[in-house]
Amino acid sequence: MIRVLAVASEIYPLLKTGGLGDVVGALPLALMRAGPAGTASSVASSAKPSAPVAAASVMADAPTFKTNPAVDVTTMIPGYPAVLAALTDAIAVHQFADLFGGPATVLRANAASLELLVLDAPHLYARAGSPYLGADGREWADNGMRFAALGAAAAAIGRGVVPGLTFDIVHAHDWQAAMAVVYLHFHNGPRPGTVITIHNMAFQGRYPAALFPRLGLPASAFSLNGLEFHGDVNFLKGGLSYADRITTVSPGYAREITGVEHGMGLDGVLRHHSGILTGILNGIDDTVWNPATDLLLPARYSRGKMGKRADNKLALQQQMGLEENPDALLIGVISRLTSQKGLDMLLDRLDTLAGDGLQLALLGSGEPELEQAFVAAAEWHLGSVGCVIGYDETVAHLIQAGSDALLVPSRFEPCGLTQLYALRYGSVPVVSRVGGLADSVIDANEAALAAGVATGIQLWPATPEALQIALDRLQTLWRDKPAWAQVQRNGMAADVSWRRPAAQYVALYRSLLVAHS
Ligand code: ADP
Ligand code: GLC
Repeated sequence: MIRVLAVASEIYPLLKTGGLGDVVGALPLALMRAGPAGTASSVASSAKPSAPVAAASVMADAPTFKTNPAVDVTTMIPGYPAVLAALTDAIAVHQFADLFGGPATVLRANAASLELLVLDAPHLYARAGSPYLGADGREWADNGMRFAALGAAAAAIGRGVVPGLTFDIVHAHDWQAAMAVVYLHFHNGPRPGTVITIHNMAFQGRYPAALFPRLGLPASAFSLNGLEFHGDVNFLKGGLSYADRITTVSPGYAREITGVEHGMGLDGVLRHHSGILTGILNGIDDTVWNPATDLLLPARYSRGKMGKRADNKLALQQQMGLEENPDALLIGVISRLTSQKGLDMLLDRLDTLAGDGLQLALLGSGEPELEQAFVAAAEWHLGSVGCVIGYDETVAHLIQAGSDALLVPSRFEPCGLTQLYALRYGSVPVVSRVGGLADSVIDANEAALAAGVATGIQLWPATPEALQIALDRLQTLWRDKPAWAQVQRNGMAADVSWRRPAAQYVALYRSLLVAHS
């Protein structure tokens, strides 16, 4: 069995601000279900199928996973208040007398079927609200120290400072965990293999050079081939420079980030390391996102029994203050409101959208200007545009189950999970042709419709004009009921599970062990 220490800054269901939390929470469970051979198909033939797990409360009784899984994952996360509050059986396994300015304890615990190591460092993490931002909406001034500490502690645990707790691989997710790779690289002596997964190149953990002396690294680390980036310290660049393997969350994004347009300044570093860079498309946790079992929905349904889906549409129209009309084409959006997601382009099209009799149900939070603009649009287009500003899991599930189409017009998208959930829930995804969106949605062009394989609509480039063309195509498809139903059914049948990606991670871990032995 391969023992992996995953390191991340969020994990569903304990704490999540976006797709990173979903993936960090779901991947260990998917790997536990992958058989010893690493072929996830062996799960289906298993005499002992894994028990469904749906939410923290339901998962209190550990479900049965493979008795001998190929990979066993323990995840190290910071001890934010929400995380500490979710632990019931924690035991202290290691103390740091002084971890970047204060004492810290590593707690070992199980929660929601996840094996966890929680870094309890009150001087760094005992802060309410967002894991990254203060109440003023600005990054915590000491985020560099907070996530260097996570990396340093994970590197120590990964090297085996706790007797009986050893790991073959340390797998860091995003810049917040990247320093684990850097500290392991500069450790003298044996170390586990290292993997870094990029969930989003837009976030790199970049700080003034003055931080460097406080990181406790040799001077050589602050170099062109290390942490140094235009005179600053860049945590993600450090992780990419020193990891044994680099992955990102779709094959498309793996290609895109080696180019100037999407590389966010690190495309050269990625081209340099392209031999160890791969893209593995995310999956979805079927025990959380399944319309047949989803307890957050007013009505459950499946591909074979779609009748009840209409109840969810009605509930969504009521919740969003939309006209209760089963025939109106209802478009959903669930998103962070940032320029990445391209929703400013949607604002641009709202007059036409409402004029055409379409409806919009938006759930989002983020940049205040975008939040205010959607609130104003909902007031202006009363009955056609509805929005909930904030973060709400129940509304997110209702939009997936009640909308006819789900719009994701991102300017870039490493993977994107909402379009995967939409496929599963029978909401036809309308997506930009970028990154993981392009990898997961088959455009309903003539050939794909004729072949019966289309699952959604792609738009390109990410402009208001192209968005309008996509919305026009969507309306044409909506009017052709048999074609619409076919596209919807195709999407619901698409394999968006973790089965294949989990097998790919197992293969990646194996290749690393071979290279390391
Ligand atoms: P990203 O991680 O870039 O935000 P993803 O599509 O990968 O985008 O993941 C977003 C995740 O966050 C999904 O699980 C989605 O349902 C959820 N989400 C986004 N915004 C909200 C919101 N306002 N309320 C509830 N869930 C949200
Ligand atoms: C990031 C990306 C998103 C991806 C998610 C999980 O937040 O923006 O595209 O789906 O990570 O990998």
